[in-house]
Amino acid sequence: MATEKKLYTLADVAVHNNANDCWLVIDGQAYDVTRFLEEHPGGDEVLLSATGKDATDDFEDVGHSSSARAMMKDYYVGDVDRTSFPSKPTYTPAKQATYNPDKSSEFLIKILQFLVPLAILGLAVAVRFLTKNANVSD
Ligand code: HEM
Repeated sequence: MATEKKLYTLADVAVHNNANDCWLVIDGQAYDVTRFLEEHPGGDEVLLSATGKDATDDFEDVGHSSSARAMMKDYYVGDVDRTSFPSKPTYTPAKQATYNPDKSSEFLIKILQFLVPLAILGLAVAVRFLTKNANVSD
């Protein structure tokens, strides 16, 4: 009787992560590649490092030949429930307003920009007024 094909979760497959028991998840399917480790032309290390996760991208990045793909069915043990995969992080651009420094110093500078010339003007008027008065009393 053929081995029963199961629906695994990624966690079920992830426990098979060593040289004596090595399973891979490629394109939603689980492969027991334990007996293939030593034969794999790419070496056993890469296969071991691809355990415990969805190895589809790793597998595709190598550009495996069609004969490599044909070999896969020999190691197929079942399907993997894709809902058990961790959701891929989606890139969300940083919001424009992320940089939000304390605006109080900016506000203070604006006030000073207005008040300092006004104070100088006031001082000049006061000096002028006082010197004028002094001249009158002479
Ligand atoms: C059941 C799964 C796999 C099978 C049956 C398989 C089979 C093969 C075969 C037959 C080759 C020789 C080149 C070719 O025909 O494409 C190969 C090469 C290679 N494989 Fe895999 N492979 C599997 C999974 C993986 C995974 C998951 C990775 C990466 C993590 C990987 C990495 C490599 C690398 C790096 C090479 C060498 C490529 C080169 O030297 O040009 N393989 N594989």
